[in-house]
Amino acid sequence: ELDGHRHFMHKEIHEQPQAVSDTLEGRIAGDQVLVEAFGPEARSVFAEVERVQIVACGTSYHAGLTARYWLEDILRLPCGAEVASEFRYRNPVLQDNTLFVFISQSGETADTLAAMEQVRAERDSQGLNLPMLAICNVPESSLTRGADLTLLTHAGPEIGVASTKAFTTQLVALALLLVSLGKVQQRLSPEREARIVAGLKKLPRLIEGALVHEPQLEALARIFVDKHNALFLGRGTHYPIAMEGALKLKEISYIHAEAYPAGELKHGPLALVDENLPIVAVAPADDLLEKLKSNLQEVRARGGRMIIIADERAGIASEPGLEVVPAATHVGRITAPITLNIPLQLLAYHVAVLRGTDVDRPRNLAKSVTVE
Ligand code: M6R
Repeated sequence: ELDGHRHFMHKEIHEQPQAVSDTLEGRIAGDQVLVEAFGPEARSVFAEVERVQIVACGTSYHAGLTARYWLEDILRLPCGAEVASEFRYRNPVLQDNTLFVFISQSGETADTLAAMEQVRAERDSQGLNLPMLAICNVPESSLTRGADLTLLTHAGPEIGVASTKAFTTQLVALALLLVSLGKVQQRLSPEREARIVAGLKKLPRLIEGALVHEPQLEALARIFVDKHNALFLGRGTHYPIAMEGALKLKEISYIHAEAYPAGELKHGPLALVDENLPIVAVAPADDLLEKLKSNLQEVRARGGRMIIIADERAGIASEPGLEVVPAATHVGRITAPITLNIPLQLLAYHVAVLRGTDVDRPRNLAKSVTVE
């Protein structure tokens, strides 16, 4: 049911405030996260964890990369994130007391399932403690059946091939994991937990606030219609968000889009910048803002057309050739990447609509990649 939307992707983008509420439902009480949401044994499993390894594909991998920044920065817990197709074939060293987190919307992605089986085989043969957690949108999927612990994202059915609400709810689920691990291991103060929970509760409203900017993003989509390439920039947790924005654009509009950590510009991609390369940057009001601004200046000086998805507090003003979408305000370490991703989804959607592609079923792609 499209409910008056032109495409499922559009409907699913607009369902995100509700989807986030559904992910949180029953998982928080007052200003605390309920560790038992991960299963009755979660507390004892989390107590033993010395490091976290996230394995996933595509958009789910980008959620994992974002969580990697959170876990190391906020909890000081070592965390890796890797695409499943690489992890499964490179014979990685598995260390005792590693929590494996497999993220998948469908729970049927072949590479992610194969990586899970590999971890299982290794722990059985070596007697290692390698608990496996599935963050998944489909109950009774192969992934949830194989995992020791499961947290369902409760995003509701996602029909569009381009993942939107699944990604947002994966990030919320990973924030719940961050708090749960942090509590059990006493790496997170009750005050910090309360602040994170307050931020998560505010998220549906923050996302609504970002969705309001759709007309501006629809207008900006015109810049991309006749372009062949686009560059997405971000730093810190917003680098994975830039990667996700680039994936959305290439997947449904067939425009080549690449994401770069903004600090890497000088090491190569700056050579690409001219008036034919639109650049999209994500600018939260965080401690990397000044560095990001100077990266953006490097691009401006070379005539690149820029779109900046910004926290209003970042204090970046529009000027000719530089358009600011003030899509968020008062977002924090956890809520900023989740909120600032929303305009990137809308931008990709409207570029695809203008280019007349099959938005919900892009060529050559399947919703669930069940073969290698
Ligand atoms: O079902 P999964 O989350 O395991 O799927 C992983 C990827 O195939 C998926 O995220 C893909 O990258 C999306 N089409 C991106 O929008």
